[in-house]
Amino acid sequence: MSSGTKKFRVQPGGSLTGSFKVPGDKSISHRSIMFGSLAEGTTRVTGFLEGADALATLSAFRAMGVEITDPVDGALEIEGVGLHGLKAAENALDVGNSGTSMRLLAGILSGQTFDSELIGDESLTRRPMSRVAAPLSLMGARVDTDEGGRPPLHIKGGKNLVGIEYPMPMASAQVKSCLLLAGLYAQGETGVIEPGVTRDHTERMLRAFGVEVISDGSRASLTGGQKLTATDIQIPADISSATFFMVAATIAKDSEICLRNVGINPTRDGVIHILRLMGADIDLTNERLLGDEPVADIVIRSAPLQGIDIPEHLVPLAIDEFPAIFVAAACASGTTRLTGAEELRVKETDRIQVMADGLKIFGIKCKVLEDGIEIKGGLIKGGKVDSCGDHRTAMSFAIAALRAQKSIEISDCDNVATSFPNFVELASEAGLTIEEL
Ligand code: S3P
Repeated sequence: MSSGTKKFRVQPGGSLTGSFKVPGDKSISHRSIMFGSLAEGTTRVTGFLEGADALATLSAFRAMGVEITDPVDGALEIEGVGLHGLKAAENALDVGNSGTSMRLLAGILSGQTFDSELIGDESLTRRPMSRVAAPLSLMGARVDTDEGGRPPLHIKGGKNLVGIEYPMPMASAQVKSCLLLAGLYAQGETGVIEPGVTRDHTERMLRAFGVEVISDGSRASLTGGQKLTATDIQIPADISSATFFMVAATIAKDSEICLRNVGINPTRDGVIHILRLMGADIDLTNERLLGDEPVADIVIRSAPLQGIDIPEHLVPLAIDEFPAIFVAAACASGTTRLTGAEELRVKETDRIQVMADGLKIFGIKCKVLEDGIEIKGGLIKGGKVDSCGDHRTAMSFAIAALRAQKSIEISDCDNVATSFPNFVELASEAGLTIEEL
């Protein structure tokens, strides 16, 4: 496996103070480009995440003939081409590290008249795509994967799709969104039933573009053939990026920070519930709606944490936040136990194993379970750990330094740029002594 060249070195200790705005929400940024491109008219977006993942989606739609202005301070404009206005790209669409781009695009591309190929980096090429290819084929699409259901994806155009009723085997917003997007091109109704609550940004944003999407308990559905009408999209700050600072301010001594304009969509706020159950001091202030998404300013103060058994119903609501929650668990008194989280093994890395390996180097006792982990809080010694190229494990190990006895060095940190390009600057401003090597 090749590894990136960037390393972080973080000095032990420190306190966090100040008021900050973390970058725009990654999930919503992807969708703003996709839906704006498929809409009729000009969509204006603000708060866009200028990180590698969302920019990969932007490049893919440009390659299919959509005019999109370069983002300036998170603002951009998309000249929508309508549901049937995309053109075949000249080359394979390379979405880099981004699972969201690949899985949602698979749904959209299944409805086109032309053939497409989707490729990604080494990490993405190891990730499972049968979870979208199989239900798309039930709709009449033809999506060929490599061995074991891995990318690249070869998608045949010119297929007549039909709506299906699909109970998802796993709680995945990417699978749900992929099928709803294919459903826009299908005859009849497409219904997706989720086994646990997953993020509902697709449903909310499609409604903002004028599509009738029905949410009825665990089922989301839409009827094919509905057009999208351009609208303005304001993207909140990403709660997944805010999480590193929520955990950091909680575990560091004498800290108090405010994170402004953070998305607190109830399908994404599991981390707040989990940290509060552990004893964190988190206040939501100035709660309001930003477009179709609820946001708040979040105030976090230092607090002692206790280990807990994490309720399984909160797992999909905090699925991207576990690497940082594991660091909170390492700083808590007693043991934290996570189960029902096998999905963590198929993220950018196997996040259970990568975090357990790093925490053990720090001197923290963990027991890896098939679908989770047990972490016994203790003293963090510090040391050299490998993020294995995963943005979220890299940032999580970095904040552990606030409670470490010696410095922490993290390798393979290049992919932090996928979701949080200014992490080092913001973390330094907030009170971490962090440098990029
Ligand atoms: C995402 C859904 C989640 C999440 C990913 C973004 C999305 O994946 O982990 O970072 O934007 O729909 P799954 O739906 O596969 O759990």
